[in-house]
Amino acid sequence: MTSKSEDQKTLFLIEKLTGIDFSESEKFQIEKRIKEFEMLLRASDLTLSQYLDTYEIHKELTEALINLATNNETAFFRDKKPFELIGHLLENKLSGCKNIRFLSLPASTGQEAYSLLFTLLNSKVDSKYFQIDAKDIDTNALEKAKRGNYNRFEMMRGISDKDKERYFSTEGSGSVVKEDLRKLINFSQYNLLEDKLIKDQYDVIFLRNVLFYFKEDLRKEILSQVAGSLKRGGVIILGNGEKVMTPNLKEEYYNGLIYYSRP
Ligand SMILES: C[S@@+](CC[C@H](N)C(=O)[O-])C[C@H]1O[C@@H](n2cnc3c(N)ncnc32)[C@H](O)[C@@H]1O
Repeated sequence: MTSKSEDQKTLFLIEKLTGIDFSESEKFQIEKRIKEFEMLLRASDLTLSQYLDTYEIHKELTEALINLATNNETAFFRDKKPFELIGHLLENKLSGCKNIRFLSLPASTGQEAYSLLFTLLNSKVDSKYFQIDAKDIDTNALEKAKRGNYNRFEMMRGISDKDKERYFSTEGSGSVVKEDLRKLINFSQYNLLEDKLIKDQYDVIFLRNVLFYFKEDLRKEILSQVAGSLKRGGVIILGNGEKVMTPNLKEEYYNGLIYYSRP
């Protein structure tokens, strides 16, 4: 049994490592996961208290703690509008570009990055003219993303029959993204709290459904850091309701969607 103060210290540690701030409403969920983490600790003959005092030397356990703490909720074409915006940009701002760079951060289990890829392929953009990077802190989520293997339920959320037929092969009761397509996305680990992106490199960044896990000041700092990696004129798309004011970005609208561009 963990004590309230050990649970509290674990939450502080998670926040220190990832920036994720657990609100009262999510505490129950994370307390369940801390119990799961304790089971892992038992296999290493450690108590939670011993781990908390020495976490820096237990790299694998810390990775497991982070993976347990994250919420990987995602779906193919999670919202339609951002992908409609991509279609619009390809016909306008990005028309004729031969080096279009996209970033999906956080990518979770990959559905956002694959939805982007399918949008580009459906718009007949030659794969030699674009690059997609997809990053997340969660190593388990990234492994799944790289495998591109989705179960029946995940396939029922957002994928059209046409895309399913074109871009997946069947494996058991699930589906797997065809190998030559999986290679078109560069999945890699990235911690928004610690890592820094190279400046001026992306045309489009998806920074969706993550900022709300952070405290207000951190949100602003992370948004401005990530936006710094946009090329001039590049655009950043946040999740629905994730509106962050920064003086360095221009608010824009497309078909009811609010997004931001770098002037
Ligand atoms: C709800 S998912 C959003 C996935 C996708 N962008 C979407 O909108 O469907 C949130 C993701 O944020 C990731 N995450 C949380 N903290 C992070 C951090 N500090 N750095 C990078 N990724 C983080 C989690 O691992 C999780 O996969």
